[in-house]
Amino acid sequence: MGIQITPSILNADLAALGAEVARIESADWVHVDVMDNHFVPNLTLGLPVIESLRKHTTLPFDAHLMIADPDRWAPAYAEAGCGSITFHAEAAAAPVRLAREIRAQGARASMALKPATPIEQYEDMLGELDMLLIMTVEPGFGGQKFLDLCLPKIRKAREMMKKHGLETWLQVDGGVSLETIERCAEAGADVFVAGSAVYSAADPDKMVNELRAKAEI
Ligand code: DX5
Ligand code: ZN
Repeated sequence: MGIQITPSILNADLAALGAEVARIESADWVHVDVMDNHFVPNLTLGLPVIESLRKHTTLPFDAHLMIADPDRWAPAYAEAGCGSITFHAEAAAAPVRLAREIRAQGARASMALKPATPIEQYEDMLGELDMLLIMTVEPGFGGQKFLDLCLPKIRKAREMMKKHGLETWLQVDGGVSLETIERCAEAGADVFVAGSAVYSAADPDKMVNELRAKAEI
């Protein structure tokens, strides 16, 4: 599939989401951060906003669910028009069943790991996933500093995927910028979330292309 850039609208003008997604037409996906004030100490948006936003862009939606009880809620995000749904390993009661349910809804199933969550215990279920998200900040807020300590886990995850003959996408999220994206790509990531880097740029669409060019090196 190659390199993909998925701008996070968390750092966009949330009162003008329709116009904000139109500013990133070179993106591969729109990354939508769903936070419930329980799993993370912040509250953003949910199903009704996603359903409304669906009409404003043809780009597919990559939903990142930072919510408690994803087993109950994640499949509904497929119905709301999300093409990829990421739940957190730390929050899921039955991650294998949940991944299968998401796929059964016709969406791509993805699981996220917080910085301190080891990858090893999930090696046997990687084949159930279309994408693995390795967080490079503690989830909850945009604009945080990239955590270099997550790089070995990205490398390890890519090695495991290779060992099992899997072509699972490997996404990174948090502090990804022109300064840090090459490190992530070199470690094996191929899908890059960027929030503040894209939406604090004068021309967000140009930044999407600059990030892609850096990651392709
Ligand atoms: C953080 C979110 C990220 C965030 C990224 O919990 O999951 O998607 O918006 O923002 P930056 O790129 O600014 O770290
Ligand atoms: Zn995110």
